[in-house]
Amino acid sequence: MTAPTRIGTPLCHSCTRVMLLGAGELGKEVIIALQRLGVEVVAVDRYPNAPGHQVAHRAHVIDMADPQALKALVEQERPALIVPEIEAIATDMLAEIEAEGLAEVIPTARATQLTMNREGIRRLAAEELALPTSRYAFAESLAQLIQAIDGGVGYPCIVKPVMSSSGKGQSTIHGPDDVAGAWDYAMSGGRVNRGRVIVEEMIDFDYEITLLTVRAVGESGEVETYFCDPIGHIQKQGDYVESWQPQPMSAEAHRRAREIARAVTGNLGGRGLFGVELFVKGDHVWFSEVSPRPHDTGMVTMVSQWQNEFELHARAILGLPVDTRLRAPGASAVIYGQLDQEGIAFEGVAEALQVPGSELRLFGKPVSFPRRRMGVALAYAETVGTARERAGEVASRVRPVAGG
Ligand SMILES: Nc1ncnc2c1ncn2[C@@H]1O[C@H](COP(=O)(O)OP(=O)(O)OP(=O)(O)O)[C@@H](O)[C@H]1O
Ligand SMILES: [Mg+2]
Repeated sequence: MTAPTRIGTPLCHSCTRVMLLGAGELGKEVIIALQRLGVEVVAVDRYPNAPGHQVAHRAHVIDMADPQALKALVEQERPALIVPEIEAIATDMLAEIEAEGLAEVIPTARATQLTMNREGIRRLAAEELALPTSRYAFAESLAQLIQAIDGGVGYPCIVKPVMSSSGKGQSTIHGPDDVAGAWDYAMSGGRVNRGRVIVEEMIDFDYEITLLTVRAVGESGEVETYFCDPIGHIQKQGDYVESWQPQPMSAEAHRRAREIARAVTGNLGGRGLFGVELFVKGDHVWFSEVSPRPHDTGMVTMVSQWQNEFELHARAILGLPVDTRLRAPGASAVIYGQLDQEGIAFEGVAEALQVPGSELRLFGKPVSFPRRRMGVALAYAETVGTARERAGEVASRVRPVAGG
């Protein structure tokens, strides 16, 4: 489908309406970027007062994995564009909605279908596009898992439910003694317990990156591919804790990373920003996975780029030109809730923002739990090293406390 050719006025018949499916911290920033361009935004999430609900024109609470509920809401709201922010959506219904011409799905319904299941995207990347990935196999029982490891994947390896995100149900297997525990853990951690896992060879990478890749309409009038500078990051327990941009890379590794990102996003198609996750060792690059939407590690771009990943996504989906240039080296550090409580407060914010080059986002999530991401500290500097030190300092000065 083609992009909207004009932007109307919100809350009247000429409006350009966009529906966000998922309204967490990433969706909230996409909504703010759309709001600035005069778009009417409808935010949908599974719980009330989600971060994005708080900045949208209208907010809805539904189970987005329920196809009928999703279809009914789309028919009620009639958005021009549907922008998924999470994976756990009734993507087959998105395909139906797209096929009926009811709305355009960003970037494409097929991209949301393939990326919600690790099997779809892995088979596409490795088997269809012949991109380098870790060795892998799928298993539906403990016996099949053992067979897959012995039959080629080898030790050490990682087991992941095919339908899961943020490290849920994932564990590393160092040797035969770990296999049964990893299987049980995967069965307890999947999004939808489909009893299927992927087991991947553990890549001994030097570093991992997110290559933000944008498919946007260029001067030619056709969709072109643009790349942001590589983002380095550190993951703990399946969640990112720190990211920075730019991550230095050899010229050859950088070239391969772009080649892989261009191939996979080109196949998924449509318009929008993608987070392509890659592992790098020397000049070698492996494709890991891709999000057809802004990426959590890309929050750093709110201080490091002229147009951050959310603005880039907003522009790309609207058919507007993008500028992916770096503004300054930057870093982000996650702020966790630490407390199990509703309506918490944050102390130390003034001290945090005394750090030079710093910025802060507090997401406004109604409920905190210890490992819930409640905010992010950001900083820019002359060098990535200083930016990382600053972002870490900012995060450490912000203290979650009981709301009282
Ligand atoms: N095959 C692998 N070899 C080495 N490390 C891996 C491998 N697979 C995953 N990891 C590590 O685990 C992290 C999370 O894995 P992955 O991105 O597949 O899971 P996820 O649950 O989708 O996480 P998220 O949703 O946060 O991106 C990776 O960023 C990487 O640090
Ligand atoms: Mg990942």
